Amino acid sequence: MNTKTKYLGLELTSPIIVGSCGLTADVDKMEQMEKAGAGAVILKSVFEEQIIHDIKRNTHVVAPTDNYGDSYEYIAQHVADDSLEKHFSMIREAKRRLTIPVIGSINCFSYENWLTYAMKFQEAGCDALELNMAILPYETSLSADDVERTFTQIINTLRKSIDIPISIKVGTYFTDMAKQMQQLSWMGIQGMTLFNKTVQVDIDIEHETMLNAGYLSNPEDIYNTLRWVAILSRKLRCDLSASTGVYSSDDVVKMLLAGATTVQVVSCLYRDGIDKLRELNQGLNEWMSRKGYDNLKDFRGKLSVMPAEKASIAMRTQFMKYFAEIQ
Ligand SMILES: Cc1cc2nc3c(=O)[nH]c(=O)nc-3n(C[C@H](O)[C@H](O)[C@H](O)COP(=O)(O)O)c2cc1C
Repeated sequence: MNTKTKYLGLELTSPIIVGSCGLTADVDKMEQMEKAGAGAVILKSVFEEQIIHDIKRNTHVVAPTDNYGDSYEYIAQHVADDSLEKHFSMIREAKRRLTIPVIGSINCFSYENWLTYAMKFQEAGCDALELNMAILPYETSLSADDVERTFTQIINTLRKSIDIPISIKVGTYFTDMAKQMQQLSWMGIQGMTLFNKTVQVDIDIEHETMLNAGYLSNPEDIYNTLRWVAILSRKLRCDLSASTGVYSSDDVVKMLLAGATTVQVVSCLYRDGIDKLRELNQGLNEWMSRKGYDNLKDFRGKLSVMPAEKASIAMRTQFMKYFAEIQ
């Protein structure tokens, strides 16, 4: 069975790839992932806040006052470079030890750092870069246009300045999801990951504080991604990587039938261990063999919404099957 695929212009032996998470900050674990059949790994994101935190922790001796402004800037830059350097030496080691593609990931909040970090990731030898664009419309002062402008400005700047393939990882909070995703896909990016998982919040009623409601997805979280992969896969001008709620080889097959180029897994590796990748690849191969498919292209996108088809009608049909019992 041939499960080779091309993602972001890179040759992958399997469409099952490991999404950005704590496990992909460790080269030993990434080596295990490669041995277990991962097609590629997406590194743990470098968050701009982490770098700022390191600067604050290490520059307390020189306050950013008028008198010391220049030396503060100098030391802050040095600490930022040092902090990033640790990450880049990990990338260089990963590139030395792995044969599968190593995809970097960044998440920034200041416009200029998206570019600075992206260029450094390219220099460090990443095969591609996933922009973890967790830009959420939380502020009442922000309009949909403001949020969308942020996306286009970042993509435009990076696209002009770096040569490695770029993919963007987006969340679900868009007013006009299909149109926005299509327009973003026209901007010269090579891929899009649907979806970033917004960290859920909970409230501890005893201590009256806000809490993180847990990091891992549940298997039923797959359905929202599945729907949007099916709607968008033939309408975008870039590859589509499906993320969230993939726990079994059946889930991988579903995402491919919906039109995903690659399928990312994270929570299931935390729950079941890195060797889960073997089971997922084996299950995909067995299904293909049972169905008589030799290649992924024989069935990829078979159940996606066709280019000339209206997604609203395709989705309404499912709704009618259930509520109006029309088959
Ligand atoms: C412990 C943990 C750490 C994560 N760290 C990152 C990260 O650094 N960058 C990122 O883009 N996504 C991160 N994610 C999100 C995953 O890449 C993925 O999009 C999400 O967990 C949904 O996929 P899943 O259902 O397979 O877990 C993290 C997820 C987990 C569980």
